[in-house]
This record gives sequence, structure tokens and C-alpha cells, in this order.
Amino acid sequence: MRKTVATTTEFLHTWDSRVNFLMAGECVPFSFEFPSTEDIVERLVAEEATTGISGQLRNTGDRENAMESFRGMSCDDLMASSFQFRYPDVTTLDRPGDIFAGFTEQVLVPWKLYLLDHGFTWDRCYALARVSGPNTCTGYHMDRSNVLFWNVRGRKVFHGFREPNRWVPLARANDGREAQIMPENLTEEDVLSYEVGDNTLLWNHLLTPHWVDAPELTFGINFSHGGLRHDGRLCRYEQHVYDTLGHNPNEKWHPETSSAAFLERLSAQE
Ligand SMILES: [Fe+2]
Repeated sequence: MRKTVATTTEFLHTWDSRVNFLMAGECVPFSFEFPSTEDIVERLVAEEATTGISGQLRNTGDRENAMESFRGMSCDDLMASSFQFRYPDVTTLDRPGDIFAGFTEQVLVPWKLYLLDHGFTWDRCYALARVSGPNTCTGYHMDRSNVLFWNVRGRKVFHGFREPNRWVPLARANDGREAQIMPENLTEEDVLSYEVGDNTLLWNHLLTPHWVDAPELTFGINFSHGGLRHDGRLCRYEQHVYDTLGHNPNEKWHPETSSAAFLERLSAQE
């Protein structure tokens, strides 16, 4: 049931489905030397744009930003709390001497070129950073993005369902966050878990239910994709969202990160 997709041919067959898979080989056309996780934590705790939650609730995805309660804490104090930080755009810390210097050129550009080379376009695509303190977990939820989840350091357990459609059929794909509640009486057979270690990548489908445990300090990058299309075609769940809403929800959401904007910048550099 667990699967690793390591060729582009297989990725093109698998990206529009619902059961998450690991990505490797030619599907990961980038690498990066990150500073220590402690340095990243110190930097992010001071950044205005960082949001944070106290990450011990598994049963709901509805959590308010609690970042102010973490400001000014030392690394040791943070380790004793239950912190999870999210930084929305890695490229703003891609400056000489900063923690993500070189990220755009070494990671984001090769990833976008890879997608374009194989027939994908998108309305938005950006990379955000996440740090999870020890013994934390996310709430159960579904994302309105296809996410390439890159666990850079530490051990996490990424949970989803073996049969997502049984638990959340297409008709419930537009449920609001408050309606996204983990089903009761799940058995081990119902759940598909990936234990991920250093430098592991996982494709998390749009609108597939999931939740993630971090038994130890972890750092990672999420690439968020909205309006991802292959040969002009959205994945089935996103098409369903567009059909039910009657419009494209990604149109005004970071249009500067679209494939069209990326191509424009590339041709301006030539
Ligand atoms: Fe998620």
C-alpha cells in the first residue's frame, strides 16, 4: 500500500489520485544545505510573518495563531513547550547571509522547471517552512492545495487513510474546517502511515484527509500548489471545487507565483 514514486512517468499517472506517496529519484530535482534547526528556530521566532500554534490537539484543524505566546522564548524554553511554527514564504529569507540564502535558485526554480518540462502549469506555487517541536501533532484536516511535503530533519509520522473516498467522498470535499473531524473508531487497517526521516519527500493530495505527528524536533518545507494542471487539466478534486464554487478560487491568491509569472520572469532574464 505504501508507495514511492521515483520516475516522472509514474508521477504523471499518480498525481491525480487520493492516496499519498513518497517522492524520490528524478521526481526530486533539487537539494539544499540548510543551517541547523536551532538557527532556523531562532530566526523564525523573531520574524513578524511567522505564525504558531500550540500543537497538541489531534482532532481538529481549527486553531488560532498563538505566536505571541512564543515570542522571546529561548530554544530550551521552546523545546519544553508544544510549539509549531509556520513561515509563509521561504524566498523572503533568501538573502545573502540569511537562513534560506540560495533557496530560490537551488530548489524553487529547478522544481518549477521540472513541472513545466513535464506539462504542468499552476495558478500559485510557493514554499513555506515548518518547524514542529517534540511531541506535537497537527489537527486532522484537508488542504486546498496539492502539497509536496519535504521533511528535511527529524522524524515525523504522516497519517492518512488507505481508502480516503470511504471517509471523505467527493461530495464532502468542500466541507469547512469546522466540519473536518477525525472519524471515530478508526482501526489500524484504516490508516496509512508513513514514518518519514531526514530528507524524505511525500506528495499530499489536495483535499485528502491527513494529520501528522512529530515525536521529535523536525524542520521541513512545504511546496503548496493551487490550480495545478497537467496538459491543462486540474485533478478531479480541484475540478470539483471549481465546479461547485462556480469560479477559480486560486485566481487572486498569490498570482505572482503562477507558472505564467514564472515564465515571464524567465524570458525577461534571457
Ligand atoms: Fe496539511
